[in-house]
Amino acid sequence: WADDGYRLWLKFDLIEDAALRQKYLSQVPTIASTSTHPTVQIAVEELRQGLGTLLGKPVAVKPALGANEKGISFKLNPTESGISEEGFKLQTVGGTLQLIAQTERGLLYAAYELLRRVQTGTSLEKLSVTSSPRIQLRLLNHWDNHVGTIERGYAGMSLWKWYELPERLDPRYTEYARANAAIGINGTVVNNVNASARFLTDEYLQKVKALADVFRPYGIKVYLSVNFASPRILGKLKTADPLDPDVRAWWKQKAADVYTLIPDFGGFLVKANSEGEPGPMDYGRTHVDGANVLAEAVKPHGGIIMWRSFVYEPDPKGDRFKAAYDEFKPLDGKFHDNVIIQVKNGPIDFMPREPFSPLFGAMTQTPVSMEFQLTQEYLGWATHWVYQAPLFEEVLSADTHAKGPGSTVAKVLDGSVYKYPITSMVGVANTGSDRNWTGHPMAQANWYALGRMAWEPTLASEQIADEWVKMSLTRKPQAVATIKNIMLKSREIYVDYTSPLGLHHLMGEGHHFGPEPWLNKARRPDWTAVYYHRADSLGLGFDRTARGSNALSQYAPPVQQQFENPATCPLPYLLWFHHVPWTQKLSTGRTLWNELVHRFYSGAEQVKWMQNEWNKVKKDVDSEIFANVAGRLLTQEKEALWWRDACVLYFQEYARQPLPAPYQKPN
Ligand code: GCU
Repeated sequence: WADDGYRLWLKFDLIEDAALRQKYLSQVPTIASTSTHPTVQIAVEELRQGLGTLLGKPVAVKPALGANEKGISFKLNPTESGISEEGFKLQTVGGTLQLIAQTERGLLYAAYELLRRVQTGTSLEKLSVTSSPRIQLRLLNHWDNHVGTIERGYAGMSLWKWYELPERLDPRYTEYARANAAIGINGTVVNNVNASARFLTDEYLQKVKALADVFRPYGIKVYLSVNFASPRILGKLKTADPLDPDVRAWWKQKAADVYTLIPDFGGFLVKANSEGEPGPMDYGRTHVDGANVLAEAVKPHGGIIMWRSFVYEPDPKGDRFKAAYDEFKPLDGKFHDNVIIQVKNGPIDFMPREPFSPLFGAMTQTPVSMEFQLTQEYLGWATHWVYQAPLFEEVLSADTHAKGPGSTVAKVLDGSVYKYPITSMVGVANTGSDRNWTGHPMAQANWYALGRMAWEPTLASEQIADEWVKMSLTRKPQAVATIKNIMLKSREIYVDYTSPLGLHHLMGEGHHFGPEPWLNKARRPDWTAVYYHRADSLGLGFDRTARGSNALSQYAPPVQQQFENPATCPLPYLLWFHHVPWTQKLSTGRTLWNELVHRFYSGAEQVKWMQNEWNKVKKDVDSEIFANVAGRLLTQEKEALWWRDACVLYFQEYARQPLPAPYQKPN
């Protein structure tokens, strides 16, 4: 059978190298366990089945290993030192490979780590691995609607078949839980942030409970996005004012109802007073009032509130860049201790490249979490191959200088800069009903990377790519190297042919597909492209220095210094912060105009390079996946030329210069 990508990174095909197989077989021929705990039973079963097919020989499960018998054993020790609740150790003790953890979840993570090592051909000799997640909440956020559609989803319809739930449980829910547990994801917000109040009805809560029951043994908690006006919509109250006693009581009762059904329910995610969603400001209240009333309601049950900072008011003279910081920074420290502010990685909206949001490092007393977007709303939907781990890595390793040098975004997130009581990293899911889960087979790697980096935010994107390719596609060394190389360059290539040098928000209106740099009218000025690129006869780019919007002042002084001088501002961020004359010579030796054209052209040209490289691995990857990616690369090439020509021709009207010599010939 051709492989279509359904098995993701849980593809345990036979290891081709017989000697290596033999070696593993001699080390882990047997699994010892007597546990009746569902989570440990899953761990045993994953190891039994996974090792069995990887090694081409059934692996026996028995109650205990004999003296000197080789094999795998489990040790549950609630007071094990050196690891956290979800952490684990993998240790060789005599001939035994011991999986040690404080909790059953830790044992499950250990089992997946062991499988990863075998899948990637890593030695099991004298193992002494200690691993604990650096971030507590590692979540997917689904933007799935109750009607089965997915906002910004490019991989089919929702995985959740609401109309079949709670009675029928699609086996895919279990596959979803396995895939997530294998990469350390421990929570899922199952519905869209533009939330239908319907999810809090008893009818839907029963459906959500059914999902929670499937996910629980895999260590995955369920969360819901809630509509702030629910007390009005569902409770028939006259208001949803958070300070109204009836509203407060309504939320308390609703939370109690949810926890009766789902005792380990995670909490609520809220998009309030943003893009038309209801919120506390509708009643003259603040984000603090809104978040805290919900926080009080879930607090007795151990729940949390994830309150999003994605807010901005239409202000033609203002700068949307500044909105989230301006609204939230003054509220620092006023939220209850079970509230976390969920911040998108950049100040605008998941653009192909953004500087980190100035809220990272600015909130000293209220925890903030990271929201990345796996679904490729601004990264070519499901037709462009963009490996996002380098984007994640770039943001996580950025230095906020909040408490001196080394205060990276990763350290803000994991609580080491300000001792946050809650830590969290989420990815807006790119999954859907497509057989291969993510539409573009290579987009699976972005889901994988999110899980791995939420566990350990300093993991390198190169290592993650290496693991993912070996686990999901091929173990042939040359093919692994070739595919990794494409992956690691893919995001920069995409940036070059769509938004080089710090351009942003040039995409089509509403659907956000393809280029529309000429867009100068929309329902709001900050939904147009001209608002952001500010092209005129003199130059290009948004001046965010003190001469312009002064958004730069939201960063710590050393960060401001990195960006404030156009002569030294790193080129990838140049037009984010400066209006640069067309004729300005850049550090590359080219003028702005020539550099811009060069990037658009060389970026588009690189898609052909991707195609050529991909062709080289044809014999080493599954035929269906090969053809799927090859087809999408053809579309990508077409669309790269579309971006290139639309942008270059449009900006040329302002630059009023010919294309640089190498690009004058039509191709
Ligand atoms: C973007 C996206 C919307 C989404 C919003 C959000 O604006 O286009 O579809 O609802 O982000 O994150 O809330």
